[in-house]
Amino acid sequence: MRIIPTDHRSEMGREGARLFAEQIRSKPDSVLGLATGETPRELYAILIEYFNKGELDFSNISTFNLDEYVGLPADHNQSYNYYMHDALFNHVNLQSDRCHVLDGTAPDLAAECRAYDQLIQEYGGIDMQLLGIGVNGHIAFNEPADQFIQWTHEAQLTPSTIAVNSQYFDTPEEMPTSALTMGVNSIFQADKIVLIASGFSKAEILEQALFGPVTPEVPASILQMHKDVTLVADADAMSAIRRN
Ligand code: PGA
Repeated sequence: MRIIPTDHRSEMGREGARLFAEQIRSKPDSVLGLATGETPRELYAILIEYFNKGELDFSNISTFNLDEYVGLPADHNQSYNYYMHDALFNHVNLQSDRCHVLDGTAPDLAAECRAYDQLIQEYGGIDMQLLGIGVNGHIAFNEPADQFIQWTHEAQLTPSTIAVNSQYFDTPEEMPTSALTMGVNSIFQADKIVLIASGFSKAEILEQALFGPVTPEVPASILQMHKDVTLVADADAMSAIRRN
Protein backbone atom coordinates (compact mmCIF):
# COMPACT_ATOMS: atom_id res chain seq x y z
CA MET A 1 0.00 0.00 0.00
CA ARG A 2 1.19 3.47 -0.87
CA ILE A 3 0.42 6.18 1.69
CA ILE A 4 0.16 9.85 0.76
CA PRO A 5 -0.06 11.77 4.03
CA THR A 6 -1.42 15.30 3.78
CA ASP A 7 -1.75 18.11 6.29
CA HIS A 8 -5.39 19.06 5.84
CA ARG A 9 -8.61 17.82 4.37
CA SER A 10 -8.34 20.22 1.42
CA GLU A 11 -4.88 18.89 0.56
CA MET A 12 -6.25 15.35 0.80
CA GLY A 13 -8.88 16.31 -1.78
CA ARG A 14 -6.26 17.87 -4.02
CA GLU A 15 -3.96 14.83 -3.87
CA GLY A 16 -6.87 12.45 -4.49
CA ALA A 17 -8.03 14.55 -7.43
CA ARG A 18 -4.50 14.53 -8.83
CA LEU A 19 -4.52 10.71 -8.89
CA PHE A 20 -7.87 10.66 -10.71
CA ALA A 21 -6.74 13.36 -13.14
CA GLU A 22 -3.61 11.32 -13.95
CA GLN A 23 -5.80 8.28 -14.54
CA ILE A 24 -8.15 10.21 -16.86
CA ARG A 25 -5.26 11.73 -18.82
CA SER A 26 -3.39 8.46 -19.22
CA LYS A 27 -6.54 6.53 -20.19
CA PRO A 28 -9.27 8.88 -21.46
CA ASP A 29 -11.81 6.04 -21.63
CA SER A 30 -11.22 4.93 -18.05
CA VAL A 31 -13.93 3.30 -16.00
CA LEU A 32 -13.99 5.01 -12.60
CA GLY A 33 -15.56 3.71 -9.42
CA LEU A 34 -16.99 6.60 -7.42
CA ALA A 35 -17.93 7.13 -3.79
CA THR A 36 -20.23 9.50 -1.93
CA GLY A 37 -20.10 10.99 1.57
CA GLU A 38 -18.43 14.08 2.97
CA THR A 39 -14.85 12.97 2.34
CA PRO A 40 -14.86 13.07 -1.50
CA ARG A 41 -16.54 16.45 -1.91
CA GLU A 42 -13.29 18.40 -2.21
CA LEU A 43 -11.85 15.86 -4.62
CA TYR A 44 -14.84 16.24 -6.95
CA ALA A 45 -14.68 20.05 -6.66
CA ILE A 46 -11.07 19.97 -7.79
CA LEU A 47 -11.83 17.69 -10.73
CA ILE A 48 -14.46 20.27 -11.76
CA GLU A 49 -11.80 22.99 -11.48
CA TYR A 50 -9.50 21.03 -13.81
CA PHE A 51 -12.38 20.59 -16.24
CA ASN A 52 -13.26 24.29 -16.18
CA LYS A 53 -9.64 25.16 -16.96
CA GLY A 54 -9.78 22.85 -19.97
CA GLU A 55 -7.33 20.44 -18.37
CA LEU A 56 -9.58 17.36 -18.18
CA ASP A 57 -11.99 15.72 -20.61
CA PHE A 58 -14.60 13.33 -19.25
CA SER A 59 -16.35 12.68 -22.57
CA ASN A 60 -15.15 9.08 -22.81
CA ILE A 61 -15.11 8.29 -19.09
CA SER A 62 -17.56 5.83 -17.56
CA THR A 63 -18.47 5.69 -13.89
CA PHE A 64 -19.97 3.24 -11.43
CA ASN A 65 -21.03 4.32 -7.97
CA LEU A 66 -20.53 2.12 -4.96
CA ASP A 67 -23.96 2.18 -3.39
CA GLU A 68 -27.45 3.63 -3.09
CA TYR A 69 -30.13 3.70 -0.41
CA VAL A 70 -33.05 1.32 -0.85
CA GLY A 71 -36.32 3.14 -1.40
CA LEU A 72 -34.97 6.61 -2.24
CA PRO A 73 -35.82 7.82 -5.73
CA ALA A 74 -32.98 9.36 -7.76
CA ASP A 75 -34.35 12.88 -7.24
CA HIS A 76 -34.47 12.62 -3.41
CA ASN A 77 -31.92 15.08 -2.08
CA GLN A 78 -30.28 12.39 0.10
CA SER A 79 -30.02 9.77 -2.63
CA TYR A 80 -26.53 9.08 -3.87
CA ASN A 81 -27.74 9.61 -7.41
CA TYR A 82 -28.68 13.16 -6.42
CA TYR A 83 -25.37 13.63 -4.59
CA MET A 84 -23.35 12.61 -7.65
CA HIS A 85 -25.22 14.97 -9.95
CA ASP A 86 -24.75 17.78 -7.46
CA ALA A 87 -21.10 17.03 -6.67
CA LEU A 88 -19.79 16.10 -10.12
CA PHE A 89 -22.01 14.89 -12.97
CA ASN A 90 -23.80 18.21 -13.59
CA HIS A 91 -20.54 20.12 -13.81
CA VAL A 92 -18.34 18.16 -16.24
CA ASN A 93 -18.80 16.62 -19.69
CA LEU A 94 -19.57 13.08 -18.56
CA GLN A 95 -22.09 11.35 -20.84
CA SER A 96 -25.16 10.58 -18.74
CA ASP A 97 -25.57 7.09 -20.22
CA ARG A 98 -22.09 6.18 -18.99
CA CYS A 99 -22.74 7.22 -15.37
CA HIS A 100 -24.10 4.30 -13.38
CA VAL A 101 -25.72 4.46 -9.97
CA LEU A 102 -27.64 1.55 -8.48
CA ASP A 103 -31.41 2.03 -8.45
CA GLY A 104 -32.68 1.62 -4.89
CA THR A 105 -36.27 1.72 -6.12
CA ALA A 106 -35.90 -1.14 -8.63
CA PRO A 107 -38.85 -3.56 -8.36
CA ASP A 108 -36.47 -6.53 -8.14
CA LEU A 109 -33.48 -5.47 -6.05
CA ALA A 110 -31.64 -8.78 -6.43
CA ALA A 111 -31.89 -8.52 -10.22
CA GLU A 112 -30.69 -4.90 -10.05
CA CYS A 113 -27.61 -6.06 -8.12
CA ARG A 114 -26.83 -8.93 -10.51
CA ALA A 115 -27.22 -6.64 -13.53
CA TYR A 116 -24.85 -4.09 -11.97
CA ASP A 117 -22.02 -6.60 -11.50
CA GLN A 118 -22.60 -7.85 -15.03
CA LEU A 119 -22.51 -4.32 -16.44
CA ILE A 120 -19.21 -3.62 -14.67
CA GLN A 121 -17.80 -6.75 -16.34
CA GLU A 122 -19.16 -5.64 -19.73
CA TYR A 123 -17.32 -2.34 -19.33
CA GLY A 124 -14.13 -4.32 -18.74
CA GLY A 125 -13.96 -3.73 -14.99
CA ILE A 126 -13.04 -0.63 -13.03
CA ASP A 127 -9.68 1.04 -13.64
CA MET A 128 -9.60 3.23 -10.54
CA GLN A 129 -11.94 2.92 -7.58
CA LEU A 130 -12.44 5.69 -5.02
CA LEU A 131 -13.29 4.56 -1.49
CA GLY A 132 -14.02 6.23 1.81
CA ILE A 133 -14.07 4.42 5.14
CA GLY A 134 -16.88 4.51 7.69
CA VAL A 135 -16.20 5.03 11.39
CA ASN A 136 -17.18 1.37 11.79
CA GLY A 137 -14.73 0.28 9.09
CA HIS A 138 -17.24 -0.17 6.31
CA ILE A 139 -16.31 0.26 2.66
CA ALA A 140 -19.28 1.20 0.53
CA PHE A 141 -22.09 -0.32 2.64
CA ASN A 142 -20.21 -3.52 3.41
CA GLU A 143 -20.89 -3.32 7.12
CA PRO A 144 -19.03 -5.21 9.88
CA ALA A 145 -20.27 -8.81 9.79
CA ASP A 146 -19.11 -12.37 10.29
CA GLN A 147 -18.37 -12.83 6.60
CA PHE A 148 -17.46 -10.80 3.55
CA ILE A 149 -20.21 -10.60 0.93
CA GLN A 150 -18.65 -10.88 -2.49
CA TRP A 151 -20.97 -9.29 -5.01
CA THR A 152 -23.42 -6.41 -5.18
CA HIS A 153 -26.21 -7.00 -2.69
CA GLU A 154 -28.77 -5.42 -0.39
CA ALA A 155 -27.19 -4.65 2.98
CA GLN A 156 -28.90 -3.90 6.28
CA LEU A 157 -27.30 -0.79 7.72
CA THR A 158 -25.85 -1.00 11.22
CA PRO A 159 -26.97 1.32 14.05
CA SER A 160 -23.60 3.07 13.80
CA THR A 161 -24.09 3.92 10.11
CA ILE A 162 -27.71 4.94 10.70
CA ALA A 163 -26.60 7.22 13.54
CA VAL A 164 -23.92 8.87 11.40
CA ASN A 165 -25.93 9.29 8.20
CA SER A 166 -29.38 10.07 9.59
CA GLN A 167 -28.11 13.56 10.51
CA TYR A 168 -28.31 14.45 6.80
CA PHE A 169 -32.05 13.68 6.62
CA ASP A 170 -34.76 16.15 7.66
CA THR A 171 -35.86 13.66 10.31
CA PRO A 172 -33.80 10.60 11.34
CA GLU A 173 -36.79 8.30 10.66
CA GLU A 174 -36.58 9.17 6.97
CA MET A 175 -33.24 7.44 6.64
CA PRO A 176 -33.51 4.05 4.92
CA THR A 177 -32.26 1.10 6.94
CA SER A 178 -30.91 -0.80 3.94
CA ALA A 179 -28.91 -0.03 0.84
CA LEU A 180 -27.65 -1.66 -2.32
CA THR A 181 -23.89 -1.90 -2.29
CA MET A 182 -21.10 -3.28 -4.37
CA GLY A 183 -19.62 -6.29 -2.64
CA VAL A 184 -16.03 -6.93 -1.75
CA ASN A 185 -15.30 -8.80 -5.00
CA SER A 186 -17.02 -6.13 -7.10
CA ILE A 187 -14.65 -3.61 -5.49
CA PHE A 188 -11.60 -5.86 -5.59
CA GLN A 189 -11.75 -6.25 -9.34
CA ALA A 190 -10.62 -2.63 -9.67
CA ASP A 191 -7.05 -2.31 -10.98
CA LYS A 192 -6.29 0.51 -8.57
CA ILE A 193 -8.00 1.63 -5.39
CA VAL A 194 -7.69 5.11 -3.88
CA LEU A 195 -8.79 5.20 -0.24
CA ILE A 196 -9.39 8.64 1.22
CA ALA A 197 -9.81 9.45 4.89
CA SER A 198 -10.13 12.66 6.86
CA GLY A 199 -10.58 13.57 10.51
CA PHE A 200 -9.92 12.12 13.96
CA SER A 201 -13.12 10.09 13.83
CA LYS A 202 -11.45 7.84 11.22
CA ALA A 203 -8.02 7.56 12.90
CA GLU A 204 -8.50 4.42 15.03
CA ILE A 205 -10.45 2.44 12.46
CA LEU A 206 -8.01 3.36 9.71
CA GLU A 207 -5.13 2.04 11.78
CA GLN A 208 -7.03 -1.18 12.51
CA ALA A 209 -8.02 -1.59 8.86
CA LEU A 210 -4.51 -1.20 7.52
CA PHE A 211 -2.46 -2.86 10.25
CA GLY A 212 -4.85 -5.11 12.17
CA PRO A 213 -6.06 -8.57 11.21
CA VAL A 214 -7.99 -9.00 7.98
CA THR A 215 -11.52 -9.65 9.19
CA PRO A 216 -15.10 -9.00 8.03
CA GLU A 217 -15.58 -7.29 11.41
CA VAL A 218 -13.49 -4.48 9.89
CA PRO A 219 -14.51 -4.65 6.24
CA ALA A 220 -11.84 -2.18 5.06
CA SER A 221 -9.15 -4.57 6.35
CA ILE A 222 -9.65 -6.62 3.18
CA LEU A 223 -7.84 -3.81 1.36
CA GLN A 224 -4.59 -5.23 2.79
CA MET A 225 -5.03 -8.02 0.21
CA HIS A 226 -5.42 -5.78 -2.85
CA LYS A 227 -2.45 -5.32 -5.17
CA ASP A 228 -2.68 -1.56 -5.69
CA VAL A 229 -4.12 0.61 -2.95
CA THR A 230 -3.15 4.23 -2.34
CA LEU A 231 -4.27 5.83 0.91
CA VAL A 232 -4.61 9.60 0.86
CA ALA A 233 -5.30 10.80 4.39
CA ASP A 234 -5.08 14.03 6.32
CA ALA A 235 -3.02 14.42 9.49
CA ASP A 236 -5.98 13.83 11.81
CA ALA A 237 -6.93 10.56 10.11
CA MET A 238 -3.25 9.51 10.15
CA SER A 239 -2.81 10.23 13.87
CA ALA A 240 -3.29 6.67 15.17
CA ILE A 241 -1.05 5.21 12.45
CA ARG A 242 1.67 7.70 13.33
CA ARG A 243 1.35 6.97 17.05
CA ASN A 244 1.71 3.23 16.59
P1 PGA B 1 -17.93 10.11 4.97
O1 PGA B 1 -18.41 8.62 4.72
O2 PGA B 1 -17.06 10.46 3.78
O3 PGA B 1 -19.19 10.91 4.99
O4 PGA B 1 -17.17 10.13 6.24
C1 PGA B 1 -17.47 7.65 4.42
C2 PGA B 1 -18.12 6.30 4.41
O5 PGA B 1 -19.05 6.08 5.20
O6 PGA B 1 -17.68 5.45 3.64
